[in-house]
Amino acid sequence: MTSESLHPVPGPARRTVVAAVGAAGLAVALTACGADDKASDSVGPGDGGSGSKSSGGTDSGAGGGTELAKTGDIPEGGGKVFADQGVVVTQPAAGTFKAFSSKCTHQGCAVKGIANGVITCPCHGSQFSATDGSVKKGPATSALAAATITIEGDSIKLA
Ligand code: FES
Repeated sequence: MTSESLHPVPGPARRTVVAAVGAAGLAVALTACGADDKASDSVGPGDGGSGSKSSGGTDSGAGGGTELAKTGDIPEGGGKVFADQGVVVTQPAAGTFKAFSSKCTHQGCAVKGIANGVITCPCHGSQFSATDGSVKKGPATSALAAATITIEGDSIKLA
């Protein structure tokens, strides 16, 4: 009797211990999750804030006008093509700067050489006036679209 009555005691006692460990393990797991969440939250806004700052800086730079070149970079009677902006800037007369789309109105090639007041398209040989973009020689039939630039000091900016 005595030995039988002792046996059931260790059983429940072991179960209690196992249950306690399980609960502790669960508590640890929950705490770990909570810590992860907090870490993620604090990293998130930090990243967003720095991202906003850098993009804001880029925006304000663009808002002030993108500098294409210095006036000294544009040869008198010639010009320069800015492929990234799709613009060609010319100086048909000393101190006079013009800008046009660098996209040929014939089939869309980028114009290339500018010399003697003429902008030339390398694809089929169309030529445009460096003064007003008008067609000097076909096959293109319409003028290069004008682009707007502003001159600030010796800086040429795309408006
Ligand atoms: Fe310029 Fe044809 S695309 S001449």
